[in-house]
Amino acid sequence: MTSDILIIGGGIIGLAIAIELKKRGANVTAISHDFHAASAHKAAGMLAPSAEKIANQAMNELCRRSLHLYPDWTHKLEELSGLDTNYWGCGILAPVYEVGDTTPPAYWLDRQTIDYYQQGLGEEVIGGWWYPEDAQVDNRALAQALLTAAQNLGVELKEGIKVQSIGQKQQQVFGVQTNAGTISADHYILAAGAWTNELFPLPVRPRKGQMLSVRVPEFVPEIPLARILYGEEIYIVPRRDRRIIIGATNEDVGFTPHNTPAGIQTLLQQAIRLYPPIQNYPIEELWWGFRPATPDELPILGTSPCQNLTFATGHYRNGILLAPLTAALIADLIWEQKSDYLLTNFHYSRFHHQSSTSMLTHPTIKTTIDVATTNHNGRDVPAERLYEDKPLIIGGKTFQSRLMTGTGKYRNVEEMLSSVTASGCQIVTVAVRRVQTNAPGHEGLAEALDWTKIWMLPNTAGCQTAEDAVRVARLGREMAKLLGQEDNNFVKLEVIPDLKYLLPDPIGTLQAAEQLVKEGFAVLPYINADPMLALRLEEVGCATVMPLASPIGSGQGLKTTANIQIIIENAKVPVVVDAGIGSPSEAAQAMELGADALLINSAIALSKNPPAMAQAMKLATVAGRLAYLAGRMPVKDYASASSPLTGTITNN
Ligand code: GLY
Repeated sequence: MTSDILIIGGGIIGLAIAIELKKRGANVTAISHDFHAASAHKAAGMLAPSAEKIANQAMNELCRRSLHLYPDWTHKLEELSGLDTNYWGCGILAPVYEVGDTTPPAYWLDRQTIDYYQQGLGEEVIGGWWYPEDAQVDNRALAQALLTAAQNLGVELKEGIKVQSIGQKQQQVFGVQTNAGTISADHYILAAGAWTNELFPLPVRPRKGQMLSVRVPEFVPEIPLARILYGEEIYIVPRRDRRIIIGATNEDVGFTPHNTPAGIQTLLQQAIRLYPPIQNYPIEELWWGFRPATPDELPILGTSPCQNLTFATGHYRNGILLAPLTAALIADLIWEQKSDYLLTNFHYSRFHHQSSTSMLTHPTIKTTIDVATTNHNGRDVPAERLYEDKPLIIGGKTFQSRLMTGTGKYRNVEEMLSSVTASGCQIVTVAVRRVQTNAPGHEGLAEALDWTKIWMLPNTAGCQTAEDAVRVARLGREMAKLLGQEDNNFVKLEVIPDLKYLLPDPIGTLQAAEQLVKEGFAVLPYINADPMLALRLEEVGCATVMPLASPIGSGQGLKTTANIQIIIENAKVPVVVDAGIGSPSEAAQAMELGADALLINSAIALSKNPPAMAQAMKLATVAGRLAYLAGRMPVKDYASASSPLTGTITNN
């Protein structure tokens, strides 16, 4: 099926965007594993830019603008769905136990005054801040209203869809691979909240929050709380239906489920300290949820490395609050090509510029293949811009170099380092097992490379079974993290049971790839040049395929040309020719066939002068690529003179 816009994620952000785009005339599909499992259902529904003390100026502005949209936005949703959202401009009272600062708009109330506003506060409270603009919405009611409104408007809602991967080629998403097959659209929006990182290497991690609710008992005639109470690491949110929500812990424990005695104990202690009457109210429900947290706690909004993919994720503590404005800004961006001035503050590239992923560039920046040219005096002149090429994109990351290298078989670390530099590569593969066991020649190797400049491709060399490879891949992810590449989910998958020819096991590789894709890895499988296997691996969501040119380390050159050609013809993911290339001419030849990239190790490491050979391989890769883009002349059976035969000077 195809539609104008496919939204990956059925949470509040995804649905709000779906509705906004549908209202503007788009044909929208939203897919979700379970529309009722989204984090929006787990929240408290506070709309609290003031109480949350959001220090970042752009974020503060984003939150306030969204807050001001709320009354009108919920009103329209209620009309569309026929359901209440219980938006309530109740304000927030933030009692404190000692004097401190706060941010406006806020009013200080001393103990006596605060008692007029709210009776029953804990003895230790000395006064508090009153945030009149903050508000609340019943997040569960809102989630239901969004779902119904989307349905009523004709948004196609597909439930039970588990996205396995986002298929990309040449900076374009061509489809989303799911348990229900490939789903395609003209444009895609990634709004997968805490699960984002399973689909795209963005630094969004789950941050668990445990919560509970109590109910105001019958013997209390009126609802005793008229405002949200916001204390130290605790909030108490009264609903008009006599429910009171108490939240929330903030735990960096991944997707560890369940409520814990320690978590609930902390919440209860803090809640009773702030508002003692609550200790006698019956507990109604306990639950937990996962906030989508980014390293700077700001959302990721706007364009992505792919031209037809937009990010709307990482809203951390403010997803409910930011839904209306996120929807408006993302719809403006996609439907009207209007980019709000605030969006630059929330662009994904802020993480990639600071970190090891600095090679990841904005999609509009094109790689230019620079080739030094020689002028008629025989001197090198500055490189001409000969041809504009698209960068190589793997697993959502953009690379300018199309040559990958390795670290094995070098005579010493210095030679390896100079060769890596001379090759101009941006990806270096590292054998996780050998590094972890400090195998001869691998001591200190992982530390030697500058991982702020080079993207690590951990490989599972030495693994003979799928299980082994999966385990080593996980170790590889940890290794990359330890070396500073927090968001690196790449793995070069090698399952090689045969020690003589070192040929990969196709079945084991497919099994391991399936598992690793499920675990959120960008899988780059090393395979024999088997076109059917390449297709199957692509179908399960691999980020590339890496067919061998000839047996690994053999330097025999291109022995599988015909099959590699078929793989290239069929593949929608990058094809990286791996293993067997022995000389630059063979490297160029593989690129001329249309390979997207090469991985070369032995031919460089085992040459007499590895740095020189590394540079030769770099030039050959560029030359081959240029030749492929230029398109070679047709082969002819007979000679055809270079100079025309007509108009030649003759004696008569
Ligand atoms: N917005 C409150 C929380 O995330 O706990």
